[in-house]
This record gives sequence, C-alpha cells and structure tokens, in this order.
Amino acid sequence: MPRALTDTWDLGGVQIANRVVLAPLAGIGNWFVRLQARRYGAGLAVSEMVSSYAVHHRNERTCRELLRIHPDEHPVSVQLFGSDPDVMGSAAARVAAAGADLIDLNMGCPVPKVCKTGAGAALLADPDRAVALARAAARGSGLPVTVKLRCGQRPGEDSGIALARRLVAEAGVAGICIHPRHASQRHSGAPDYELARALVDELPVPVLVSGGLRTAAQARAVFARTGAAGVLLARGALGNPWLFEQLIGRRSDGDGPTAAEILAELEWVIERAREHLGDERAGRYLRKFYPWYVERLGGGKALQAALQRAPTLAAARELLCEDRAEAACALAP
Ligand SMILES: Cc1cc2nc3c(=O)[nH]c(=O)nc-3n(C[C@H](O)[C@H](O)[C@H](O)COP(=O)(O)O)c2cc1C
Repeated sequence: MPRALTDTWDLGGVQIANRVVLAPLAGIGNWFVRLQARRYGAGLAVSEMVSSYAVHHRNERTCRELLRIHPDEHPVSVQLFGSDPDVMGSAAARVAAAGADLIDLNMGCPVPKVCKTGAGAALLADPDRAVALARAAARGSGLPVTVKLRCGQRPGEDSGIALARRLVAEAGVAGICIHPRHASQRHSGAPDYELARALVDELPVPVLVSGGLRTAAQARAVFARTGAAGVLLARGALGNPWLFEQLIGRRSDGDGPTAAEILAELEWVIERAREHLGDERAGRYLRKFYPWYVERLGGGKALQAALQRAPTLAAARELLCEDRAEAACALAP
C-alpha cells in the first residue's frame, strides 16, 4: 500500500489520526490556534515554544495562558525550550500535569535572545547538554519526548544530524522533527529535503519534516520525497486552516474558502481570543492575525490599516461587518 497523509501512526505510544501536524509557532500557537487546526483535521498540533524557566518558576501568566489545553485538542504536544536539565525536568512534570500528551523540545530556534541562554539552536553545539535535557524531560514528565532541530548552525555543518542520532540512541526520544535549513538561514532559503530523507532512512523513530510547506502540493511532494512520518505546517497554515482539510482530502486543492467562510472563521478566532485574553488584550493580540485572513479575503490596504488602528475589538468587528458585503461581492463568481 502506498503511504498516505491520512494514515494513522504511533508516536511514542500516542495514536495520531493522520500525518498532518501544526508546527510550533511562537506567539501564535496557543490553545485556540491548535484547536482550530484540529477542527480542520490536523492529526496533531504542537504548542508555541514555552520557557522551561517560566514554567519551573511558576510564572503565573505563562502557566495560565501557555499551558492551557482545551479538552477537544488532544493529542497535543507542548514545546519547551531551555538549557538547564533540572529546570527542564521540573517544567516537563508541570506540562504533563497540565494534560499534554507529548513534549517537544526546541533545539532549532535561531533567535539570539534564546540562543544566548544556551537554548534553541545553541544546543546543536552542546550535544551533551541536549541529551541531558531530553532525558530530564522524559523522566520529569513520563511522556514521550520529541525534538525539533535544524541540520546545523551554518551551511556546511551537520551538527543537527549528529545530535539527532544521539538523542535517539542515548535519550530515547520518540521522534525527531527536522527543519532542514541551517540556523543561520532563519526561515529563508531552500530546505534540504535530501538531508531529511537520509535522516528518515537512518533513524529508527518517526522523523517529521518542516520547512517550505506553503501549499498542499508542496506538502504532498515533500511527504513523498522524504518518506517522513509526517509534515509540519507552519507559515502555510497562518490564517489558512483550510490547508489541513486539503491535505486530508476533505476539500479539493482548487476549492478555496468563500468570503463567508473566511469571515466566519475570523469571527471564531476573535471570539476565542476574547475568551482567552479579555477584550483589551485580545484587541492588540489579534492585530497579528487580521492580515492573514484579510489577504485571503482579497481585502485591500485600507481595510488592513483600519484593522491595525482599530481601538477596540468592537471597532474591529464593525470594520469586518461593514466589509462583509463588499468582500463577499468581490469574491463572488
Ligand atoms: C512566526 C514563527 C514562529 C515560529 N515559532 C517556532 C517555535 O516556537 N518553535 C519552533 O520549533 N519553531 C518555530 N518556528 C519554525 C516553524 O515551526 C517552522 O519550522 C518554520 O517556519 C519552517 O516552516 P515553513 O517554511 O513551512 O514556515 C516559527 C516560525 C515562524 C514563522
């Protein structure tokens, strides 16, 4: 039987309904963004990265907001970052108590603020510590642990590949997610899918692939070419939960959402953000989200700018209502 994105699979003992996964997205992948991905068919959703220090030190906002899990989003993986194994073990225990099914460790974030603390992609150069962190997370939580990493820090380096081998052999991680760009490339440049394929062939655990998966056609091609256990959707899924439906065959590629569907989904997001953060903070938080949906609506610069300036959530809703008819007309066949 040929492999399919709709095949079920096992990740460290957790049954996953299909091979399409929401990638970790800092500042974005909260419970309702993950729930949205699951509503549209994602087999698994990974949280935004959460500081193990903040969780260990019981930072109130981090624990209340970033460890919040909705009952309908299981299975869910919470991604932690950090560089101290004791702190990681303690944070992992709290993540398990919060109800996560899996823990993912961030060993690929290239942001200097993270790397200078010895976390994220800095761990590619500190493999002993990386292995200790993975062991501590597994021991502290009792959950399967996966690691998301880059292939190396700079072009020509393959420290991420060597680390992946050690994480599996020495820390017993349940899976690896490879973003086959070097950390110095950040999020641009072509991912090296051949490198991902070689890792899939070599490792005895599921390997997921991330990077450059903006469309359903790209995600299918990379799934086939790398032989990966699954694909992680990141920027391609921003304001585009319909991509999950396309990949699991619930919607055809050419069948994009209608204006009414986009507006209804944006309203769902606004309401969940209000529930999560309250009116005032949600008003600011959603400024990041509006452009994705408005662009999909075919809305112009004027609407984008007005939404960024909207002083309240009610004012933003008003703009979207006013625009509802106009947008629907613009997209009508
Ligand atoms: C806004 C943004 C936030 C991200 N946050 C995280 C994160 O918290 N943890 C992580 O491992 N990767 C993070 N990533 C990397 C993505 O998960 C993904 O690996 C990367 O965007 C490549 O996929 P793409 O080219 O399909 O977007 C982030 C990427 C973006 C664009």
